[in-house]
Amino acid sequence: MKILINGGCGFLGSNLASYGIQKGFQVTVLDNLSRIGSKENLKWLQSYGKFDFVNIDVADEADVFDIVANTQPDGIFHLAGQVAMTTSITNPDLDFRTNTIGSFNILEAIRRFSPNSHAIFSSTNKVYGDLQEIEIIENDTRYIAPGYCSGFGANDIHLNFQSPYGCSKGAADQYFLDYNRIYNLNTTVFRHSSMYGGRQFSTTDQGWIGWFISEAIKFQKGEISEIAIAGNGKQVRDLLYISDMVDLYYSALGNEIVYGKAFNVGGGNENSMSIIELFNFLSEKMNVEFRFKFNESRISDQKIFVSNNFELEQALNWFPKCTKEQGLENMIEWVTKTP
Ligand SMILES: NC(=O)c1ccc[n+]([C@@H]2O[C@H](COP(=O)([O-])OP(=O)(O)OC[C@H]3O[C@@H](n4cnc5c(N)ncnc54)[C@H](O)[C@@H]3O)[C@@H](O)[C@H]2O)c1
Repeated sequence: MKILINGGCGFLGSNLASYGIQKGFQVTVLDNLSRIGSKENLKWLQSYGKFDFVNIDVADEADVFDIVANTQPDGIFHLAGQVAMTTSITNPDLDFRTNTIGSFNILEAIRRFSPNSHAIFSSTNKVYGDLQEIEIIENDTRYIAPGYCSGFGANDIHLNFQSPYGCSKGAADQYFLDYNRIYNLNTTVFRHSSMYGGRQFSTTDQGWIGWFISEAIKFQKGEISEIAIAGNGKQVRDLLYISDMVDLYYSALGNEIVYGKAFNVGGGNENSMSIIELFNFLSEKMNVEFRFKFNESRISDQKIFVSNNFELEQALNWFPKCTKEQGLENMIEWVTKTP
């Protein structure tokens, strides 16, 4: 099995790559090493065994064509991306070139040189916009969408691209589906919300679980006395732990049942959590008292996003196995030992 992992030195990519290397697959990791932590992840991967690494920018059409033509992969995980909504607003050009043009280059390379590859694209819940049209109520710690007790399936809500990030990822998401429709390519789209786990180097703009754990450590050490959060802290996401994500991508690989389809993917309702609930959990586990103030909500932030994984369960018998409690304990350990 030959696998090309675009963005293979990122959080998702390095976990997928390490799994593939350990399975004895022929793995090619493509990355331009632009993300904080990507060089460390490359070094970490090298400790797992043999694989090819190419330092390529996905926005560079000639380089992308070459690597796809030369490797003819059975599977392509397309994860390389500009990942922060905030950065997309300050640098829409980088965001568009990376997310839309980069993804288009991959699709064109597959169409021309490797039409039998199965390409899986990691899209985002941001393709649905702020979901203002959905009735939402709130209790003391979280927002609730009473009409969607099992979460949102991909066919339950409408695409509504907002923010440059929503537009650039959304365009790529639709190109992936259309290249199946028009050119019969084997493409699949997974729309993710919040994932977390080892090899994730969180920042204030991306990876909120890891970021707040690192803030909790600063509270413990007395380095800070207050943090600011965007909105009122009742925003809810369903947390998907990295081992479940890896399991999903490899279960889907080469499986015709997922070709041409888009799925919402997350930890599901039972693994959902608001920022305030995360603070409560961390306060207890880490013996720390959070003090925080509220800032303006982020532009087009969803009050709640929880995936309904029913269609994936039907198609692949896949469902998240790691509970949020276990995943968060693992994440505390990872962040604590990360320099
Ligand atoms: N992590 C999440 O919770 C989450 C949620 C929704 C969607 N996603 C999507 O999943 C994908 C992977 O996310 P992640 O958390 O692993 O992100 P990440 O930032 O850790 O990994 C992305 C990798 O892509 C590389 N990269 C960036 N621009 C590149 C370019 N122009 N050419 C080549 N490589 C480039 C980076 O160096 C990095 O190693 C992203 O596309 C993201 O939009 C992630």
